[in-house]
Amino acid sequence: MEQKSITINYTEWQEEELEPLWHLLVAAAKAATETAYAPYSHFFVGAAVLLEGGEVVCGSNQENGAFGAGTCAERTALFYAQAHYPARAVRAIAIAARSGEDGFTEEPVPPCGICRQVLSEVQQRAGKPLHILLYGKRCVCQIEGIEGLLPLGFKL
Ligand code: THU
Repeated sequence: MEQKSITINYTEWQEEELEPLWHLLVAAAKAATETAYAPYSHFFVGAAVLLEGGEVVCGSNQENGAFGAGTCAERTALFYAQAHYPARAVRAIAIAARSGEDGFTEEPVPPCGICRQVLSEVQQRAGKPLHILLYGKRCVCQIEGIEGLLPLGFKL
């Protein structure tokens, strides 16, 4: 028997401390919350994906009255990016969320399990660790590589 452990490192930044590129990407994710269609949850999520070459692709959550049919902001942005720029590796993703009338969440909102699985394959396709930025009013959480959100992830 061998007991093992996994350590996850991440950085908490104040928004204004972020380097200009990440500041821009976070701003794009915040702006993307405006395009969310969330009449059921009233939880408005935005994601901004930075591609190799500099393009930024945004997405937001899109809900549907047939509840399982909707999709998260992260997958909207990632699948759009892969559909429109199949040859461009994804370098980074920023995520932000607003809740009802309360404005942006105090704490960074981490992606759901399905989005983590998608991010894992997006990173595999890119061949290098993704920069992941989770926005909250209290801090922006930066994680280098999806393993920080999905340790022991499933891969085909
Ligand atoms: N949602 C996202 O867009 N991203 C996540 O990672 C978590 C959840 C959306 C799905 C649904 O429209 C709403 O937030 C409430 O769960």
